[in-house]
Amino acid sequence: MSNELLAIAHPQAAPAPSAPTGERFRRWLDERLGISALSYPVPAHANSLWYTLGGVTFVGFVILILTGIYLAQFYHPHPAEARDSVLYIQDAAPLGDVMRGIHVWLASLVTITASLHLLRVFATASYKRPRELNWLVGVALLAVTLGFVFTGSVLRWDQEAWEALQHNTEAAALLGNLGTWFTPEFAENVPILTRLYLTHISLLPVLLIVLFGLHFGLIKKHGISALPAQADAGEAPGGILPKEKLGASYAEHLRKMAGYGLILLGVAGVLTVLLPPAIGEAANPSMEITKPAWMFFWLYAFEGPFGVRGILYAGAIFFALLALVPFVDRSPWRSPARRRIALAVAAAVVLAMIGLSLYVWLSPTEEHLEEARRLLFRL
Ligand code: HEM
Repeated sequence: MSNELLAIAHPQAAPAPSAPTGERFRRWLDERLGISALSYPVPAHANSLWYTLGGVTFVGFVILILTGIYLAQFYHPHPAEARDSVLYIQDAAPLGDVMRGIHVWLASLVTITASLHLLRVFATASYKRPRELNWLVGVALLAVTLGFVFTGSVLRWDQEAWEALQHNTEAAALLGNLGTWFTPEFAENVPILTRLYLTHISLLPVLLIVLFGLHFGLIKKHGISALPAQADAGEAPGGILPKEKLGASYAEHLRKMAGYGLILLGVAGVLTVLLPPAIGEAANPSMEITKPAWMFFWLYAFEGPFGVRGILYAGAIFFALLALVPFVDRSPWRSPARRRIALAVAAAVVLAMIGLSLYVWLSPTEEHLEEARRLLFRL
């Protein structure tokens, strides 16, 4: 069929002969892939930085997966080889130091962006009807993020990694039968380091992808929440903004997300150059001299008075309280002025976590791990 006839039969499908090549290519691609379907309407405020933090976290995870695949080419997940293979990545593998630096720094940065995203969702009460279940998916995503950081820090197989593993083993012993999977005895023919590596590169990524699917599917179903003031003025019946109140396009949101994501990558790159992540000494099982990764500092504060049990209980209580938020805060209001108690409680929790973290950061390391040492010496 000639272009003229095509234009009469299917006006949208026919390429305009006078259009520039770039535009003709875009239309060609769109006809085949349906890219323009991404230009569906979203609220104008979805393009602000606060409402893009989830997307920025997602971009961070994509880069983490890509750099992680690269690192896995050189990493050896056996206790006899692991630390040397990390040294090899850092000193000899092509671009190994850059990839490792970006991977390690991004792990910290996505923890920060995911936490800020959580605070935005909390501050705007976006967990309220109909988004309660998506809040729960978010809580699971936070747990998976911390799981990545924990298993990743063990992989370095230096002193800090070894001490982290001791905590893992002691916590597993406290959990009794529930903790069996986390003990070295679960599979006596495979070192626990190798099993934690498999957790890091297969179990957690699968969980992450399933949770991302649920999280994004529910966001698509409900749309981004209205601003609190709009919701409280009754402009979003059932929590969903009507089409005529949507002032931006999702394609624009994606562009913002990618732009902020690139800035995040740039920050990780600068940090990699200025502060390349360290690799500690080979593990000395008779000492306890390191602290955990910074995101676990507040939990570590509970170890002093209560032992590893304190870490376990404080972590479980924190996640249980987080999961209960939408079911405890059931008022219909979303504006901060009408949620003073909820915001005051959240501020107190955040300040306590920051305070405990600073306390751990500034205090010397303590020895806690007699039980774990006894268990591990049997290996
Ligand atoms: C850890 C990785 C996470 C990623 C990649 C992620 C991604 C996203 C994205 C892209 C959005 C769209 C709006 C935005 O960007 O702000 C969103 C919305 C949402 N997220 Fe997350 N999220 C994560 C963690 C969390 C956590 C920890 C929570 C809460 C515990 C949470 C709860 C929610 C809720 C309730 C919404 C809907 C908010 C609204 O409609 O305003 N997410 N998330």
